[in-house]
Amino acid sequence: MSSLLIHNIGMLASPEGCEARRGADQGKIRLLENAWIYTEDGQIISYGTGNPPITFGEKLDAGGKLVTPGLVDAHTHLIFGGWRQNELAMKIRNVPYLEILAAGGGILSTVKATRAASEEALFRKASAALDEMMAFGTTTCEAKSGYGLNVDDELKQLRVIGKLNKEHPMNVVATFMGAHAVPPEYKENREGYLKLLCDELIPTVASKKLAKFCDVFCETGVFTAEESRRILEAGKEAGLLPKIHADEIDPIGGSVLAGELGAVSAEHLIVCTDEGIQSMAQGGTIACLLPATSFYLNSTYAPARRMIEAGVPVAMASDFNPGSCPCLNLQLVMNLGCLKYRMTPEEVLTAVTLNAAAAIGMENRVGSIDRVKQADFVIWNAPDLNYLCYRLGSNLVDCVIKKGVAQTRFSMSR
Ligand code: NIG
Ligand code: FE
Repeated sequence: MSSLLIHNIGMLASPEGCEARRGADQGKIRLLENAWIYTEDGQIISYGTGNPPITFGEKLDAGGKLVTPGLVDAHTHLIFGGWRQNELAMKIRNVPYLEILAAGGGILSTVKATRAASEEALFRKASAALDEMMAFGTTTCEAKSGYGLNVDDELKQLRVIGKLNKEHPMNVVATFMGAHAVPPEYKENREGYLKLLCDELIPTVASKKLAKFCDVFCETGVFTAEESRRILEAGKEAGLLPKIHADEIDPIGGSVLAGELGAVSAEHLIVCTDEGIQSMAQGGTIACLLPATSFYLNSTYAPARRMIEAGVPVAMASDFNPGSCPCLNLQLVMNLGCLKYRMTPEEVLTAVTLNAAAAIGMENRVGSIDRVKQADFVIWNAPDLNYLCYRLGSNLVDCVIKKGVAQTRFSMSR
């Protein structure tokens, strides 16, 4: 048996429980001063304040700093070949995202690079990105396919995700997103691609247990709401839970559909309507907001406060991808949650821990400091939660603990 006692915690901050928190509850978190946490074999056994009752085993002094659950990044496009720095010049000239895509650039240029990359090369690249994510405090993430857009290359991406989940310390949850774009070879035959998705890819992915979720980019010029419904229903039938990229650029019905289908989460929601918010509230859908993408696309920000008021649980994630958001730092996402969504630090913490865990079906295992959950924590170079959300542009991670094992101690002295 291996054990770890983290003591001398100045402030322990965590949401509570195994369910997404909504409405006023999103901002009600547990805050303990002068605290400790005791873990055995990678699981949380107990926590408390004052002098810890445990005297044996390994000890880690938190130096009076802030400790939170490990962050959960519920939305990434982690597996891709190449980068797209060539698009920066177009962005500076204000060429719209969908125009770059329609001209065969954007997602489709990453599809070319991903098809050309070997499984081994994709694994090495994504593994390095996971190292970087963990160095910023993320201990669990989701990863989507969607740059293969044919049977071989979609399965290749999903196998890489499975291997990362086994071999990297990060927990990685897989989402099948063959409906990320219509590939060029089906440009004149959309129906052919929809059939490939629904009749071949989805059943294969589900039967090989390569993904837990199915996601669709429901957007002008990509997939319509009706096409999205068809794809997500095929996914549901095969046992893949629905997620949807909705209302990122145009509100074409994605968030309404999310609620109707009982989607686990709807993503982006930058231009979400009140009808969409109501539908998500009724369907129990989590709003997974991606403020770093708004920043990077120079667009507006999702109506997070209206969602919280309507009782929709709000999660936040990075959307790490080579186009609309080449950023994997959840600390920046937390800053933007406060400054742009007007969420409180407590609501923001819930959004990147428990609610994010619920958005990827991991709420029983991670996302809060509760008994028997996985011992995933971050010790921050911060005295309290306000400080963590207020500082901008520094990496405030002191130490990441994954399954009860300290991964990296970045600085003891700061
Ligand atoms: O979530 N919006 C669609 N998909 C990604 C962008 C992918 C890309 O540009 O390569 C997103 O923003
Ligand atoms: Fe995305």
